[in-house]
Amino acid sequence: MRIGMLTSGGDCQSLNATMRGVAKTLYNELKDVEIIGFLEGYKGLMYEDYKVMKPRDFSGILTEGGTIIGTSRQPFKQMRVIGEDGFDKVAAMKKTYKKLNLDCLVILGGNGTQKTANLLREEGLNVVSLPKTIDNDLWGTDMTFGFQSAVNIATEAIDCIHTTAASHGRVFIVEVMGHKVGWLTLHAGMAGGADIILIPEIPYDIDKVAQAIEKRTKEGKRFSILAVAEGAISKEDAALSKKEYKAKLAASVYPSVSYEIGKRIEEKTGQEIRVTIPGHTQRGGSPCPYDRVLSSRFGAAAAKMILDKDFGNMIGIKNGEMVRIPLADVAGKLKMVNPDSSIIHEAKALGISFGD
Ligand code: F6P
Repeated sequence: MRIGMLTSGGDCQSLNATMRGVAKTLYNELKDVEIIGFLEGYKGLMYEDYKVMKPRDFSGILTEGGTIIGTSRQPFKQMRVIGEDGFDKVAAMKKTYKKLNLDCLVILGGNGTQKTANLLREEGLNVVSLPKTIDNDLWGTDMTFGFQSAVNIATEAIDCIHTTAASHGRVFIVEVMGHKVGWLTLHAGMAGGADIILIPEIPYDIDKVAQAIEKRTKEGKRFSILAVAEGAISKEDAALSKKEYKAKLAASVYPSVSYEIGKRIEEKTGQEIRVTIPGHTQRGGSPCPYDRVLSSRFGAAAAKMILDKDFGNMIGIKNGEMVRIPLADVAGKLKMVNPDSSIIHEAKALGISFGD
């Protein structure tokens, strides 16, 4: 068999561990298999930029962050748009697939990547995909690889802030990644003992946020820590149309939501605020043990789909078991935090404020 492999979109800690899982299983199960690694995601497939991989390429990479074949963002919206030079991306990808006589494409990526994987499936290519993202927002799987490693890093950031916040008696905001969803902030916030957690799924009322801080002050607590998702949104902004909100963000003087929240808290409480943004460190470093296991399982299970010639699916995990989810079902859907789920109720029972 000849298998093409690519990693697309933002990187994360356990892309290599996942590719290793796929490769090891294929090399173990098949006598004759060749893996072609496309460089920098879909770009490599479009422009025939690839490397013939050897078993040794997949050795020693279980603990290595990033991706050994590189990645890039190729927006799904642009996939069917013909370039000014007449370049047809979809046709080019199909051409490379046929020219290299591939039996299947193994695609590792998040939401946009899964949409393009589904497009290629619709175009007749054999596709098997794996759920990568620190955001944990892929529909159809309880967990994505990269998420737990990012939770560890964001939690460490909050832990470090804790000692400084306690010493100085200030209000600290730690802004956490997660794109349009709050999984990473919710988990890191709870793990780091944040007092207030603001996520996009629960629009906040700034007065309630200020009240939560003042309540702590009255109780004699010298500091407060807020874990704020990069996509956190106020109740007023959530009432705007998408277009109006975009225009508001474009005109904003603040570098990110946390600075606006910080300013408004300062005005309401008179307390001193500091903002910390761990940013891309959340995608870096070595995968945590949970991700190493999950990625190895995903890899082996995805390879099994190839051996079964069961194409057109993303591998996922449900209640601890590997599941095959049709790409047609996954593409275009977001898995968001349910504001009425038990974890939110439990967090509130602990006294954490969501500003609602
Ligand atoms: O999807 C992963 C992610 O890290 C998001 O949490 C974040 O919004 C985005 O990627 C950042 O993208 P980029 O690396 O392109 O700046």
